[in-house]
Amino acid sequence: MRHLLDIADLSPADLAGLLDDADGFVEVLARPIPKVPALRGKTVTTAFFEASTRTRLSFERAAKTLSADTMTFAPGTSSLSKGESLKDTVLTLQAMGSDLLVMRHQAVGAAERAAEWLSIPVVNGGDGAHQHPTQALLDALAIRRRFGTLEGLQIAIVGDIRHSRVARSDLLAFSKLGATVTLVAPRTLLPVTFADWPVRVSSSLDEVLPELDVVYLLRVQTERGGASVFPSLAEYTTRFGMTRERRSRLKRDAVVMHPGPMNRGVEIADEVADDPDALVLEQVSLGVAVRMAVLFRLLGGESDA
Ligand code: NCD
Repeated sequence: MRHLLDIADLSPADLAGLLDDADGFVEVLARPIPKVPALRGKTVTTAFFEASTRTRLSFERAAKTLSADTMTFAPGTSSLSKGESLKDTVLTLQAMGSDLLVMRHQAVGAAERAAEWLSIPVVNGGDGAHQHPTQALLDALAIRRRFGTLEGLQIAIVGDIRHSRVARSDLLAFSKLGATVTLVAPRTLLPVTFADWPVRVSSSLDEVLPELDVVYLLRVQTERGGASVFPSLAEYTTRFGMTRERRSRLKRDAVVMHPGPMNRGVEIADEVADDPDALVLEQVSLGVAVRMAVLFRLLGGESDA
């Protein structure tokens, strides 16, 4: 593995191997001094051209736990405002001694282009509505740790599929690991075509609810026009929101997930988000271990973890 750009590039065995490594790093993170020397002397650079809380910070935390140094490129105060191109920007970050670049960009394919321009590994931290592979890995890890396997599970991904790189990454990872994935959304929030996706599609959350093991809620992407295609947020909540009442109709051991940031009161009710059974914060914690596994794999550190 030279880069991590797209879940489509990974076999089921690759996915399982990364999750196994991440399980090991969960143990490291639970130690009194959560630090291993595996990537000492390496420099991990993050360049996020789109907003991020979880992804960028958890890559930083992952790099530091592995004893790598970190550099953070901040687009807002950079020479982008002088018209510098993406190519010149990432070549500059490499020339400064970055050993790996984690990049998020609003354009589909941006990380892939960077991987062509650079000689260091590139990790896609989200490219437009296309891919967000480390989110899929952490979501798969959270499910695997809860249920022991994804094999045979019924998973619904609910909401703004059209604008969601999380949905595109997760449905590939979940189905490669043996789960059955159902997309639940109104037609206006589905992509133009999804014929070659390994999924079932439903427009009724209430219909599929009783059979689900995992309900994966997506954020309505208002910044990408997600809220403009239904009459009101209240109507969205009525049909697709995870309310307390819907939660009570799920199987006893079913879990509710969300990648964050949450629109509380829209796709997820406060009571559901704050329920100790919700996996939302567990997903965030496991994100650090998953990103350690990815950095470790790509930078080929010696294993003394
Ligand atoms: C997601 C993203 O940016 O793709 N957030 C995340 O990384 N946890 C989901 C979203 O913004 O809705």
